[in-house]
Amino acid sequence: MTQLLRAQTPGSVREQVSAWRSAGQRIALVPTMGNLHDGHLSLIRIAAEHADRVVCSIFVNPTQFGPSEDIASYPRTPEADDALLAEQGIVDLLFVPSEDDIYPHGLNGSVVVNLPALVGELCGRSRPGHFNGVASVVLRLLNIVTPDVLVVGRKDYQQAILLARMIRDLHLPVEILLGDTVREADGLAMSSRNQYLTPAEREVAGTLHAVLQELAVQLRNGGASIDKLAPRAREQLVSAGFKPDYIELRRARELGAVTSKLPDEPLILLGAAWLGRARLIDNVPV
Ligand code: PAJ
Repeated sequence: MTQLLRAQTPGSVREQVSAWRSAGQRIALVPTMGNLHDGHLSLIRIAAEHADRVVCSIFVNPTQFGPSEDIASYPRTPEADDALLAEQGIVDLLFVPSEDDIYPHGLNGSVVVNLPALVGELCGRSRPGHFNGVASVVLRLLNIVTPDVLVVGRKDYQQAILLARMIRDLHLPVEILLGDTVREADGLAMSSRNQYLTPAEREVAGTLHAVLQELAVQLRNGGASIDKLAPRAREQLVSAGFKPDYIELRRARELGAVTSKLPDEPLILLGAAWLGRARLIDNVPV
């Protein structure tokens, strides 16, 4: 059972981390925006398997929200998050920085990480600037915490692939690990944004996962192409009350377009759809 330490400034994180590093310990970072659920906790457990010390950060990053997005209503539960981490006894250090600590030159004066073209595809088409904002905060967190391992979730697959790309391309000395998606009993991927669903919407929210799974089975069995099958999947979502954003089949490794499939090459089916106030995303391997 680990005693939970808390830090609010980059300086105090550095001090703690350098003490651990001098003792030869490996450090893992799990960045989050808080409102912690079992999905986050699964990443924390993975982090503990791969490092001696686990740092979890909680920061609702303004630069990854668009002007019409939900930063004001994004669920913030700092006391419950702190209590949950203390009770779990896995995280060594909880880092809850202020906006000024992360962006000392203010949001308008900040350095922005400009990721390659994939930022404009899939979720990026309807969320311009989102992934550059994610990379801009994660790079800062990596520079503050200097972890050996970064653990992120497959649920946000495009985010994970883009962060992996940033790490390789900028030669950052950190290994990235991906944790599997933790789901509710009906298949709905756990997400802080699921709280936006009304009880009636929650009843049908598992349909997104079900539709993607069914489509993945059909694609695996061969026969029809994604172009043939996707319209019916979209219709299924519409009849359940969703407003589909996209359903796309991509190469799993770099999220490139599938033109011709190499033998044994892993593919991934990704989907996003609005259900009421919530924009739900999910993905399944093909
Ligand atoms: P947040 O949505 O809080 O998610 C933090 C981490 O938990 C991400 O790596 C995400 O992929 C993972 N995660 C979320 N739901 C999950 C689930 N059901 N199963 C497994 N993992 C899950 O993603 C962000 O915050 C931010 O963009 C962040 C990376 C912290 C940068 O601000």
